[in-house]
Amino acid sequence: MRILLLGSGGREHALAWKIAASPLVTKLWCAPGNAGIAREAECISLDVANHAAVIEFCEKNAVELVVVGPETPLAAGIVDDLASAGIKAFGPSRLAAQLESSKGFTKALCTEFGIPTGAYQRFDNADAALGYVRTQGAPIVVKADGLAAGKGVVVAQTAREAEDAIAMMFEGAFGAAGAEVVIEEFLPGREVSFFALCDGETAIPLASAQDHKRVFDNDVGPNTGGMGAYSPTPLVTPQVHDAIMAKIILPTVAGMKARGTPYRGVLYAGIMLTEQGPKLFEFNVRFGDPECQVLMLRMMSDIVPAFLAACDGQLKNFDLRWYPQSALTVVMAAKGYPGDYKKGTRIDGLDDAAEVEGVEIFHAGTAATDGAILANGGRVLNVCALGKTVTEAQARAYQAIDRIRWPDGFCRRDIGWQAVEAEKAKD
Ligand code: AMP
Ligand code: GLY
Repeated sequence: MRILLLGSGGREHALAWKIAASPLVTKLWCAPGNAGIAREAECISLDVANHAAVIEFCEKNAVELVVVGPETPLAAGIVDDLASAGIKAFGPSRLAAQLESSKGFTKALCTEFGIPTGAYQRFDNADAALGYVRTQGAPIVVKADGLAAGKGVVVAQTAREAEDAIAMMFEGAFGAAGAEVVIEEFLPGREVSFFALCDGETAIPLASAQDHKRVFDNDVGPNTGGMGAYSPTPLVTPQVHDAIMAKIILPTVAGMKARGTPYRGVLYAGIMLTEQGPKLFEFNVRFGDPECQVLMLRMMSDIVPAFLAACDGQLKNFDLRWYPQSALTVVMAAKGYPGDYKKGTRIDGLDDAAEVEGVEIFHAGTAATDGAILANGGRVLNVCALGKTVTEAQARAYQAIDRIRWPDGFCRRDIGWQAVEAEKAKD
């Protein structure tokens, strides 16, 4: 089978690694890819925003399946355009991708189908939004309706912070994405990432995972795309798992079908475990990054038939198997991330680091020049490891990191701390 993967981050390196391991695959391309992905796939410089160019490449090269990594092409309708050209693609249609591309769309769906989430209101002007904040008080959460590259959410601890966020959004900080704003009740609790593979009708849960969004140790500092992740997480007990499936995932799949916009692809629910049970605070229409990296390490099943079954509405009798080990990934980022950072700094010691038992290194933002690996983004490397426990996986990942020589990079030293504490308590 001839497959084209779209994207260039650590998530896509993990997907390329897993797809390339499938005996069904005869050829794998990735557009645009990165220096690590180039070990698994032929990287091509296609402009993914140019759907006609993607279709032309697929037709010329007899591509049989396109796997879309990030949300931007999904929200732009790449799966619809490929389908019109008769090319199978894994991921939701443009209308179904609204679960991520419009927070207001998701909140309305939750209301219509009784999916537990925080109370909210939608606003298209600052005055009404400010009035609502005055009646609700703080803490409160202000969200740009549209896609804002992970920066469109402000968890305001004070009314003043909420007012500033509202002003910033209506002044155009996120362009059209902020033309509408959702203001949502602050949900106290612990946060988990929950993933399910969906075929429009059926949903199969993936292994549980948790990420660390704050940039510094002890979960402080600004929000990032994710500084590390691990799987499984002790927070998702069998009861929590069943509640998330029954109250959030399955009603969403049924609701999207009832509305005539069936959801196919991977559905990523951001869930807060509150005293009243799990509540949804956001959907994403793609794998999480870096959660995908740990899920791929733990997935025993061939992923290609799973993608095909999701595309073809055949998940009903499908079964995914997982390795019982734990997996953990630590993100190495360029100093300054998530603010300004330098590109083009040199990274050494990667081969030596990859020798550590159980370790797999995925590239998130790298380029290769004359045999050297250079940083080419904010999040640059994902140092991942499997272990009998999260504690062992964590030790292996940091052992590998200590072999990497990159003076311009940094990482958190405490990824997985909650699970490590839980494992210690059990001993
Ligand atoms: P996002 O950028 O959409 O991933 O959201 C950033 C972070 O904001 C999430 O990871 C949550 O920790 C937090 N968040 C979003 N909505 C809420 C909410 N209603 N209550 C509390 N925290 C929230
Ligand atoms: N890890 C968070 C995200 O992918 O949005």
